[in-house]
Amino acid sequence: MEEKILAEGEILPGNILKVGNFLNQQIDTDFLKEIGKEIARLYKDSGVTKIFTIEASGIAIAVAAGYELGVPVVFAKKNRSDNISGDTYVTKVDSFTHKTTNTIVVSREFIKAGEKILIVDDFLANGNALIGLCDIVKQAGATVVGAAIAIEKGFQKGGDMLREKGLRVESLAILDSMTYDGIVFRAQ
Ligand code: G4P
Repeated sequence: MEEKILAEGEILPGNILKVGNFLNQQIDTDFLKEIGKEIARLYKDSGVTKIFTIEASGIAIAVAAGYELGVPVVFAKKNRSDNISGDTYVTKVDSFTHKTTNTIVVSREFIKAGEKILIVDDFLANGNALIGLCDIVKQAGATVVGAAIAIEKGFQKGGDMLREKGLRVESLAILDSMTYDGIVFRAQ
């Protein structure tokens, strides 16, 4: 992941790392397969029964991991506040990057009490998406076994804050700093 970011990532103003060439808008499918295998290696002994992510760009990675772990993938939908009924779990997620608040929703039939859920996403910044997904899993009476993230922006504090709270967070690359002079990755 680090090599791929250095070769193909692009730093944009506002501390945004553009990975549209291989992870977001265009997806490098060979690389995606490797991501899935690595997530499966990390969580193969955790008894994962389902993977949970949020639309849109978490879905591809979640599917790659779900295929390798042999479990289904569920994704939360955003902004369906007009269509909330009693058969859904609902929570709110603030996006620091997009300066918006989304209501995220998932149908109750897809996460059941007692399930062991692995949360997967492409980016981890302030951790708000992850907190929202954990909240839904808790509402369902299921357990979060951990999170697998493609790219963590370690200079924003979501990952460290969640680890301090006891959540297992595995990130395939952690950026400790990102400037136009270069990227510093956290040794792990
Ligand atoms: P947080 O959930 O960790 O608090 O992160 P934040 O609000 O900052 O990020 C919200 C959205 O912005 C997420 O996408 C996340 O993937 C994306 N994002 C954050 N930092 C970067 C970055 O440096 N580069 C790229 N490419 N994306 C970043 P989202 O709102 O879920 O939208 P979607 O793209 O998945 O549809």
